[in-house]
Amino acid sequence: MKNRLYFNRLENLETVKEELFNSIQEEQKSIGYYNLPKQDISSILEYANSFNKKIKNIVVVGIGGSSLGAKAIYNFLKPIQNIKRRLFFFESTDPLNISELIKEINMGKSHFIIISKSGGTVETISIFKYIYAKDRNSDRYTFITDSGSNLDRFAKSIGSKVFHIPSTVGGRFSVLTAVGLVPLSLSGIDIKALLKGARRIKKAFFEKGEMTSILLDKAIFYTKNHAQYGINTIFAYSEGLKYFTEWYVQLWGESLGKIQKNSILNIGLTPIGLIGPKDQHSFLQLIMEGKRDKSVTFIKIEEHKPPFKIPDITLPHLEALDILNGIEFGDLINMQCDSIIEAILNQKDIPTDEIILPRVDEKSIGELIYYYELLTSLVGHLLNINTYNQNGVEAGKIILKEKLKRLKR
Ligand code: PA5
Repeated sequence: MKNRLYFNRLENLETVKEELFNSIQEEQKSIGYYNLPKQDISSILEYANSFNKKIKNIVVVGIGGSSLGAKAIYNFLKPIQNIKRRLFFFESTDPLNISELIKEINMGKSHFIIISKSGGTVETISIFKYIYAKDRNSDRYTFITDSGSNLDRFAKSIGSKVFHIPSTVGGRFSVLTAVGLVPLSLSGIDIKALLKGARRIKKAFFEKGEMTSILLDKAIFYTKNHAQYGINTIFAYSEGLKYFTEWYVQLWGESLGKIQKNSILNIGLTPIGLIGPKDQHSFLQLIMEGKRDKSVTFIKIEEHKPPFKIPDITLPHLEALDILNGIEFGDLINMQCDSIIEAILNQKDIPTDEIILPRVDEKSIGELIYYYELLTSLVGHLLNINTYNQNGVEAGKIILKEKLKRLKR
């Protein structure tokens, strides 16, 4: 992938960059996600290869970091993939959503993957209970959780297969653990290639090259200017990246909205996910003429497929649009993206950059995922916050459990 920064990179910050780089290098010892690109996935591949061929649906029950990553990668790759098994995601306690999904999956041809790092999340366990009450066959379930969690104990007690999440990898950084790799490999996605993509970015960053200075400069720019440009928008020109933007919103929001260390200051950067060209006809107006509080990162696919062309036909009254004739849709969507970049750059005061993925494949999405994880860690470090906790999210979970306990009294 390529990343072009169109904003002015801040100068004379060599010491800051050196310190930041060293801190991130040091952090690798305690924060587990950094090392995931190079892991032994033989047990996952073995499990996927020997999986029951009659199972056609893989149903993931999980929320937040336990579902968004696999959902993002699956939806990006689905259109080009020879899908072995369809993935479904139960993430909501909305009864209509549960009932719709239950109707859509054929329980007899489905396998359920229950994912919860803590092993006690209300949404996940309530939905699991609903499904389990309908089918108590333990072969129908695989569990992915922390070793020793209550869910781990339960899974073992019924004799189901369990994968563990490394204790040093947090929920929203866990897509490259069993959390993402197990469902993705069952659907036929090449998880080796996915990790290869992530490895490329890791190498490019830690071996100190162009990617190092891009990521450091971008993180420094976002942090230094966060008081003005506190909203970071991704504008992705690919329908397949819709769920990637959801994953990004969770990663950025839950990691970077915090109280500063040794301080009382609430601080945060606000993520927004947009999809082009659709959002050219909505949110773009706010970027172009609204308050100057947003940075924009465009994501473009260099080589789109299939090579569908706009037919060379002239329609009465629509002759002015014959300029479209013979153009491939893939070229059109990229010209649309380029035109919006140009229009934004003409404004001069909207920090903009562009990420170009070569094509829709495992390596590209692996690169993109790892790039954003690294950027999140870098910004979190500069903001002087704990990127990896989520006290704000935990607070709501605790209150809900209290309310539920009171109901039973
Ligand atoms: O990033 C996080 O830690 C959270 O978003 C969790 O992934 C989410 O709350 C689900 O938690 P769990 O996997 O413990 O069920």
